[in-house]
Amino acid sequence: MEQLPYSEKVMDHFMNPRNVGEIPDANGIGTVGNPICGDVMKMFLKIENDIIVDIKFKTFGCGAAISTSSMVTEMVKGKSIEEALKISNKAVAEALGGLPPIKMHCSVLAEQALKSALTDYYKRQGKEPPFKFTEHTHDEH
Ligand code: FES
Repeated sequence: MEQLPYSEKVMDHFMNPRNVGEIPDANGIGTVGNPICGDVMKMFLKIENDIIVDIKFKTFGCGAAISTSSMVTEMVKGKSIEEALKISNKAVAEALGGLPPIKMHCSVLAEQALKSALTDYYKRQGKEPPFKFTEHTHDEH
């Protein structure tokens, strides 16, 4: 077998990403980008009574970004916001069977997109999010 730097799970989520698309009546939408590679990710959330009942994403990004976003959406769907916030990018990478170190930053993009969408959800409710989120999108200085 040829040695690929990616696990079977990474390849599976890259070839058949779950939860790709948009949610027309989303109540939390977040977009983040990585200024270095230029990849962009958009996440849509449908939250009811603090539960993430639906989640979808769209990305203009690399394979690792697609795989990690796909995995994140599977991991947080049906969970409460509180539980979803406990899922770190490392946990996502582990669930995928690991990522090459050079690709770990791609998993950060997925985590950031989720946080950004949750921040938007709280803003729409007129509330402060119960976590700290600093957008890296415009972080070019
Ligand atoms: S190289 Fe940009 S997110 Fe992976």
